[in-house]
Amino acid sequence: MKKLLALPLCILLFISLTHAQQARRSPNWKPSIIPEPYSMQIGKGYLKLPYYLNIISSANKEVRQIADRLAITLQNTANEVKVKEGTLPGNKTILLSLVKDATIQPNGYKLQISATGVSIKANEPAGIFYGVQTLLQLFPDEVEELRVRKSPFDWELPILSIQDHPRFNWRGLMLDVSRHFFTVKEVKDFIDQMAKYKFNLLHLHLTDDQGWRLEIKSLPKLTEVGAWRVERTGTFGNFPKPQPGEKASYGGFYTHDDIRELVKYAGDRFVNILPEIDVPGHSLAALAAYPELSCTPGEYYVSPGDRFMIWPGGGQHFYGTLDNTICPAQEKSYEYLDKIFTEVAALFPFGYIHMGGDETARNFWEKNEAIKALMQKENLKDLDEVQSYFVKRVEKIINSKGKKMIGWDEILQGGLAPNAAVMSWRGMKGGIEAATQGHEVVMSPTDFSYFDYMQGDASIEPPVYASLRLKKVFRFEPVPAGVNASLIKGGQANLWSEQVTNTRHLQYMIWPRAFAMSEALWTAKEIRDTTETGWNYFVKKVEKHFDRFDNATVKYARSLYDPIVQVSKKDSSTYTLHLSTEVSGLTIHYSFDNSFPDQYYPAYQAPFIIPNEATNLKMITYRDKEPIGRLMVIPVADLKKRAK
Ligand code: ACM
Repeated sequence: MKKLLALPLCILLFISLTHAQQARRSPNWKPSIIPEPYSMQIGKGYLKLPYYLNIISSANKEVRQIADRLAITLQNTANEVKVKEGTLPGNKTILLSLVKDATIQPNGYKLQISATGVSIKANEPAGIFYGVQTLLQLFPDEVEELRVRKSPFDWELPILSIQDHPRFNWRGLMLDVSRHFFTVKEVKDFIDQMAKYKFNLLHLHLTDDQGWRLEIKSLPKLTEVGAWRVERTGTFGNFPKPQPGEKASYGGFYTHDDIRELVKYAGDRFVNILPEIDVPGHSLAALAAYPELSCTPGEYYVSPGDRFMIWPGGGQHFYGTLDNTICPAQEKSYEYLDKIFTEVAALFPFGYIHMGGDETARNFWEKNEAIKALMQKENLKDLDEVQSYFVKRVEKIINSKGKKMIGWDEILQGGLAPNAAVMSWRGMKGGIEAATQGHEVVMSPTDFSYFDYMQGDASIEPPVYASLRLKKVFRFEPVPAGVNASLIKGGQANLWSEQVTNTRHLQYMIWPRAFAMSEALWTAKEIRDTTETGWNYFVKKVEKHFDRFDNATVKYARSLYDPIVQVSKKDSSTYTLHLSTEVSGLTIHYSFDNSFPDQYYPAYQAPFIIPNEATNLKMITYRDKEPIGRLMVIPVADLKKRAK
């Protein structure tokens, strides 16, 4: 009788565990921590936290704040959580303690979960914060839920010990708030998400042709005029310019109070904010406010996304049909910039100010008499040297406010300013050159870190002129061979927002690529595995974090599940289709007869010749008989155009 009862009881117990808990009990289970920690030993068994949970915090103010916020996060699950100050753990408590431990690297931490409780130790509050981020990833996905749970569930944590520290101190994400404005609340949400993955730098691209987003009290028109443009919806770049009498109603800006609030919010999460004022190019919004800043008299407007910069044949060559530059040949420009950087320096405590310096169209400078006179007076032999003259003067202004200057790699042209740091975006080349000259470098090359690029096939992604897949980001190595590694401060991914008009799409563009970026910037090189084995392990972790994002209602791209399409051409009527996937273990089912493929349709095995009379290729990927990718439709005529 007893035996008969035992079996159903066991079954009942097992099915009362959540799906995630069951998975955790399998022998090869490993927690999915992103970025991968430096070392992790997994023990046997679980710590079941009590319903009345105590967090014991060091008396340090910052640690106490971390503890209070952790309590709020855990309280979302309806159990009672209290914070007490102290140094000794109680039974099954979470202990956050500042220590002096020479075996913990800068900003690192030790996390220990045993049968008796949780302990996070670090030498600085930042280390405690990162330890807490790791701890939260060990909680069930439901910890990410924003709403308060109705009934408490068992909080189980795996017994383990982790020792961890960052590889780089500059782990950045850039958000372009000029092309589209994001509110203080939206930027805070962005900070929350990035901090969970141990990013510590938010670069705000505050000014551009499409909007000036920072209140400058001594130059009020910058925001009265420069923060607003006419509204356009559709495909950026091809919009009509403002029509006579049209109201500039789209935009916004951050007041000084907004910035102070953001700086505090970010600082509480160990995130620095790097402000960028992009000059001398990309300055149409400033010129709309103060046209006298231009060398070219005219009427200026804040661009709604009309095409006034022309890239004939793509590549790096371009010219403007409008002069969108601040004039380097007049003192007034530097007086304005001094006012601007005085306020910027006072608002942002971070030690660096970004002055842009990228993509300066010089075609108006070429013909300008004031520029010619400047060249003669200062003995500047070409327009590179004119730009360099400007950049060096800006550096003097920024240095005079007690800040270091950083700029995009074009600031190398004509000679780098003496103390400048370089943000390398046109590949790694500029970074290598700057480091060779002994300057600090942040790596953010387009080919690994431009998150405005499409992350999957052009037939299904919102259109952008280039692509960057997750797997490529995963392979990002910020330190090129042969350079002095101590000059590479780190790296960052950049989200330009020409085509990013809302936060759902912002999230889609950031995740999951920022998972890969966080590993490239946090995880020690010697433990990063960027081979296929490492990639497969990373993808498994990414999928676990997708579950967490579902709980947190954060959007992410599922492009990694969609086929990679290539076409080769044998002769004028013979085209071969090559399909593959970023993720292993998927089957691609396809049709050429316009019907919707499912798992009973032909599965791609090897390259084959595209039927000449077909009009559309339709494809979808499956895993374990379940559709996992999105339905992709590509006209055969488009496929043929892709042929190499
Ligand atoms: C840039 O992408 N123009 C820095």
